[in-house]
Amino acid sequence: MSESKIPHHVGIIMDGNGRWATARGKDRSYGHKIGSSNVDKIVEHAFNSGVYALTLYAFSSENWARPKKEVDELMKLLKLYIQKFYKKLVGSGIRLIVAGDKSALTPDLVKEIEKVEQATKNNAEHILNIALNYGGRQEIVNAVNKLINDGKSVTVDSITEYLYTKDSGDPDLIIRTGGEKRLSNFLLYQGAYSELYFTDALWPDFDEIEFDKALEEFSKRKRRFGKI
Ligand code: IPE
Ligand code: IPE
Ligand code: MG
Repeated sequence: MSESKIPHHVGIIMDGNGRWATARGKDRSYGHKIGSSNVDKIVEHAFNSGVYALTLYAFSSENWARPKKEVDELMKLLKLYIQKFYKKLVGSGIRLIVAGDKSALTPDLVKEIEKVEQATKNNAEHILNIALNYGGRQEIVNAVNKLINDGKSVTVDSITEYLYTKDSGDPDLIIRTGGEKRLSNFLLYQGAYSELYFTDALWPDFDEIEFDKALEEFSKRKRRFGKI
C-alpha cells in the first residue's frame, strides 16, 4: 500500500466487549478486561503501519448510565492502562492525550492522566488520544464557549483549534467494531469527511489482520470532499 493511502489519523470505536463476554458465559467486565489487553497490539500495529494519530473511544459521556459495578470496573482498567503506559511509553515517541471531561473522574485517575500527559507532551512521532468521558456534542459546545470567553470569533477553523484533537488533524478513517453502524457521539465535528468502516468483529477479536482489512478498504475509497 502506498504511503499516501495510509490514513494520517484513525479513530476507533472499540465496541463489543460485553457481547464477547456474554457469548462465553462470562461477566461483561471480563470482556472489558480482555478488550483492554487488546489495545496495545492495535496501537503498535497502527503506528508501525504509518498511521500518525489514533483516537480510541474508551468511555463515552453516556456510558455513566451503565450499572455502577461496570463503570467502576472500566475506570479501574483505564487507570491501569494509563499507569502501564507511563512506565512503558514515556521514553517512546508517543504523546498521550486524554480527550474528554476530566472533571467527573476521580482525583487519583486525573493525577495519573496528568502525569502521563505531562511526561509525553514533547513526544512528536505519534499522538494517541484516549477518548474518556468523551462526547462529541459537548466537545463542540465547550470549544464555542471557550472561544467566546477568550474573545475570539467563532469560525470553522477556530473551533477546530479548540478541540481535543487539534494536533491530530481530522480523522481520515473511523472504524467501529461490534457490528453497530452509528457514531455514538464520537468525533462529530472532526468526522465531517471521515471514511467510515464498520466490522462485525467484536473488539476483543479485532486483531492486526482485521485492522489491515480496514486499511485496505480505506485505500480503495474515493474521497471527493464535495468535488467531482
Ligand atoms: C465497548 O463495549 C466498551 C465500552 C462502551 C466502554 P461494550 O461494553 O459497549 O460492549 P457491547 O456493545 O455491550 O457488546
Ligand atoms: C460507544 O459504544 C462507546 C465506546 C465504544 C466507548 P456504546 O456501546 O456505548 O454505544 P451504543 O450505546 O451502542 O450506541
Ligand atoms: Mg456497546
